[in-house]
Amino acid sequence: MSTWTSDRVRATFLDYFGQRQHRVIPSLSLIPPGDPTLLFTNAGMVQFKDVFTGKGQVEYAAATTAQKCLRVSGKHNDLENVGRTARHHTFFEMLGNFSFGAYFKRGAIEAAWELVAKIYQLPIDRLWVTVHPTDDEARQLWREISGLPDERIKDDPDNFWSMGDTGPCGPCSEIYIDQGKALSGGAEVPFGEGGDRYLEFWNLVFMQFDRSADGVLTPLPRGCIDTGMGLERITALLQGKQSNYDSDVFQPLIQAAAKRAKINYGTGGESDVALRVIADHARSAAFLIADCVYPENEGRGYVIRRVMRRAMRFGRKVGLEDPFLVDVCAEVVRHMGGAYPELRAKAEVIERVVRQEEERFGRTLAAGLKRLEVAFDENQLTQVIPGTIAFELYDTHGFPLDLTQQACEERGFTVDEPGFHAAMDRQRAKGRASWKGTLDTAGDWAALRDSIGTTEFVGYAHDAVESTVLAVLEDGKAIVTAATPFYAESGGQVGDTGRIVGNGGVLIVEDTQRPIEGIVLHRGQLHGVLADGDSVRLEIDADARQSTRKNHSATHILHLALRTVLGDHVRQRGSLVGPNRLRFDFSHFGPLTGAEIQRIERLVNERVLANAPTRTDVVGKEEAVSRGAIAFFGDKYGDTVRMLTIGGDS
Ligand code: SER
Repeated sequence: MSTWTSDRVRATFLDYFGQRQHRVIPSLSLIPPGDPTLLFTNAGMVQFKDVFTGKGQVEYAAATTAQKCLRVSGKHNDLENVGRTARHHTFFEMLGNFSFGAYFKRGAIEAAWELVAKIYQLPIDRLWVTVHPTDDEARQLWREISGLPDERIKDDPDNFWSMGDTGPCGPCSEIYIDQGKALSGGAEVPFGEGGDRYLEFWNLVFMQFDRSADGVLTPLPRGCIDTGMGLERITALLQGKQSNYDSDVFQPLIQAAAKRAKINYGTGGESDVALRVIADHARSAAFLIADCVYPENEGRGYVIRRVMRRAMRFGRKVGLEDPFLVDVCAEVVRHMGGAYPELRAKAEVIERVVRQEEERFGRTLAAGLKRLEVAFDENQLTQVIPGTIAFELYDTHGFPLDLTQQACEERGFTVDEPGFHAAMDRQRAKGRASWKGTLDTAGDWAALRDSIGTTEFVGYAHDAVESTVLAVLEDGKAIVTAATPFYAESGGQVGDTGRIVGNGGVLIVEDTQRPIEGIVLHRGQLHGVLADGDSVRLEIDADARQSTRKNHSATHILHLALRTVLGDHVRQRGSLVGPNRLRFDFSHFGPLTGAEIQRIERLVNERVLANAPTRTDVVGKEEAVSRGAIAFFGDKYGDTVRMLTIGGDS
């Protein structure tokens, strides 16, 4: 093996730029904080997004990073290719240099060329570059700086990079290496053909625009630079390997899995694919857990669950039945813990979470695969697995849809995907039926809202208000008014109770709901008659509201105590807050010990007894985050939030 270990490749990159006025910045978490547009960090530029657009400021003009990235969802998704190609991964590291006005195209091209040609010493006669067809400046600079002949500076209309549907973007220029005839089946092929023969390994983006949600490109305040080079690719190149999986980035992981399976890697068959998938997915799992993402049935938690379950199914193909991913993840920690200390700090958590998920899914995986075999027999003629079966596998055996699809594809079957979603919708509808009023669907409520208008909520400032009845529903037992001080059930806090008094009758409100945004529905017992257009006075039961409010504050105190005692990976998963009690659901990887419960209780009681004043501020989301608010943005918050401060800190 060459002396270019992946650790040395990474350190060389960071040193090169570090010595040239770039601040060396640690990798951002895989979970971009405060960025609802991205599920995962998918490029090095993510942590500098606001600096590019001018919204945020930093005290340096240039930076360099080795950034943890995940491409398993959204615009950049490589999941299906993993294991089957030489260079696709779910998790990878991106080496990058960034300029916020310090230099632009010339500086970026000069540095990239020096690093590639002089430091990494890649063979110049095998290097190619591409530029955007409209970017004459970049083409001219490459000619001048690299001396590459014109025929190796190519136009590529795809050379325009954007992070997602919105955000900073701009034309780019890519550096390629010709890996030789062996990769194009021995044939001379033109640039851009022959599979992996011409391999792109470094992308220089000339950030020039901010793309808004409606697709409009606004020029950035100044031209910026964002480059990204996959550590796995450059390492494989420097080690003379034609597959990233043959480099020292993956080999220790592949060998660990092969050893557990008692097979050899390198036979060229399906077992190699399985070992590569396991190695790749183990990295994603270990790094995600280190960044506090745990297997769950929705959102990011579902992504890690899918990835882990996929690895487990591939494990079964090479005879791995007992928990094995846990060992490969331990190898990830050993191998990469030097560069990413969070892996070492979270080693124990990683081990517990992975083992637990393997044990859990291990129990249903075999049964699910057996069910699928029966389904293959039953549907020989159509070669299509009905959506109801895919849903049964999901619901009963915990098979993510893509796992079922993959298993089907390997047997030449497809899945009736619309049928799967229809089955899912039917089940959801069943769950909802219990709370629905006489208006059945969201469409019905929207139609009502279109005809009567919306309810204005004034309950943060008032306990009582005069208003007008807009609609009387459910035999007079439910009323919508133009304004209301009643807080509708939301985020686990029960709806207000109280009364609505008109000339002809009184509604004793027992429950308040918001069936659709903009409509507040008061439900209860009617005495007398209330009709559309009546003037009424709405009064909440202020004592009950006050008790509910106290319990609401208590959930925040409890949340803080949980994070203090158990660690900041603790996330709120749901809560129920009423006048008489509260329930708080949270994620943690195991049961609490008696001592932990005692510490949590003590902390909460201390806070309650301190009787500190609370204050509510309406602030921008970013300000709330910077003031330390504990919240999980991107889920259900608007641009401004009500920030509750209890005592000195929040
Ligand atoms: N953002 C660009 C990419 O991901 C360059 O860093 O390729």
